[in-house]
Amino acid sequence: MNNKKIIKASFFHSPKYGDIEFLKQALVFVSSNGIISKVIRQDDENYLELLEKHSKDNNFFDFKDKIILPGFIDLHIHAPQWPQAGLALDDELSYWLNNFTFPLESKYQDLDYAREVYSDLVKTLLANGTTSAMYFGTIHNEATLELAKICASYGQRGFVGKVVMDDKTMNPDFYRDNSTKEAIDNTEKFILDVQTLAKDVFQGVYPVITPRFVPSCTDNALLELGKLAKKYNCYIQSHCSESDWEHNFVIERFGKRDSEVLDQFGLLTDKSVMAHGNFINSEDADIFKKQKSSVCHCPISNSYFANAVFPVNQLKKQGLNICLGTDISGGFSPSLYDNIKHTVMASRMLNDGVDNKLDANNRGTNNARVSVFEAFYLATTGGGEALKLPLGIFKEGYICDFQVIDINSPSNKLPKYLDNEEDKHLLQKILYLSTSENIREVWVQGKQILKKD
Ligand code: GUN
Ligand code: FE
Repeated sequence: MNNKKIIKASFFHSPKYGDIEFLKQALVFVSSNGIISKVIRQDDENYLELLEKHSKDNNFFDFKDKIILPGFIDLHIHAPQWPQAGLALDDELSYWLNNFTFPLESKYQDLDYAREVYSDLVKTLLANGTTSAMYFGTIHNEATLELAKICASYGQRGFVGKVVMDDKTMNPDFYRDNSTKEAIDNTEKFILDVQTLAKDVFQGVYPVITPRFVPSCTDNALLELGKLAKKYNCYIQSHCSESDWEHNFVIERFGKRDSEVLDQFGLLTDKSVMAHGNFINSEDADIFKKQKSSVCHCPISNSYFANAVFPVNQLKKQGLNICLGTDISGGFSPSLYDNIKHTVMASRMLNDGVDNKLDANNRGTNNARVSVFEAFYLATTGGGEALKLPLGIFKEGYICDFQVIDINSPSNKLPKYLDNEEDKHLLQKILYLSTSENIREVWVQGKQILKKD
């Protein structure tokens, strides 16, 4: 447990897709379990009285002119690929997997190597404002459990999966599960080990069932993983309709699209987060909606491996829940700020089109622009909705995770020379111009877990 706290600051959040709210110099009351018990705005009638009453308390934190944003939620990241972030992005997906990624991931049978890389990654994500993350580990139980322990000890809310890739015809001998049975038994053991670990983790740590993607798994493994998901009511993550190659491979193997196959094996539930979804059609989106599953948009990675731009707005309009992921190392950046920006930029290319030989009217896709506030929603509230946890909003009953932004940080001072700036302009500047230098503190579940001096 923890002490109750009162936090006075100016907060931005996005309770609704496209809308932002600025809670200027609000008071946020946090219970000892890290949940927000009340939010008092400056224009509430008892604001001054409460301020007077509590401002001298030991547990009163006044952030003055710093700006608070919700902790970001990265729902697709391959922890073992951190050493190759930024490398080998000039090839297509299956070549990249076989020639770079699988050899790297096979190294995580070495626990010391895993510990070193995973500690560095979790610290880096926290320094970039990411307070919750859903990770792919590797096929190795020990190293992946170590990742869960590292999230637990650094104070990040981790969702962690031991990867299953059991098909002998699709995966190299040096890096695959020895058998389907072993893959399933190890997954069940991993779930139980993380559930045991979770008993002592204040901010939560969760096991995630993780078939790498349909092409790397046998039918039997997919079926058994679906059963485990039901038995343990677990989160599920995988890749879905990421690239032409992957999407078409699944259609050739099953005569069905990726979403239908995942659904048929019980892998689309309200706790499923499927990465990419670049080729899902509106029937697939209906399946996702019916099962309350989410798609994790990975815009930087998609620019390298997807062969298309994910139509965020079209699918949001259809009612699909969408969250955001870095997809390290298909995406090179550990920062969701970078992915927010890239969500906006990729959507502009989709909207306007890219072939300058075409007439403007035939070049793009109507209404495809995603605003920076909509992208901010994906990184915060959309992530909470995907996890089915009260995250991403400063509101009674929500978990208190946040990042503290100093717009006057000496190493990256944001320009402020206009005298007619509205509140929303400040958030636009923060989202476009800030770097991890501007993030001075990170709090998870009502506790400060990182402070930069
Ligand atoms: N599909 C299967 N494995 C991977 C991976 O590691 N990264 C990406 N981007 N796609 C995948
Ligand atoms: Fe991925």
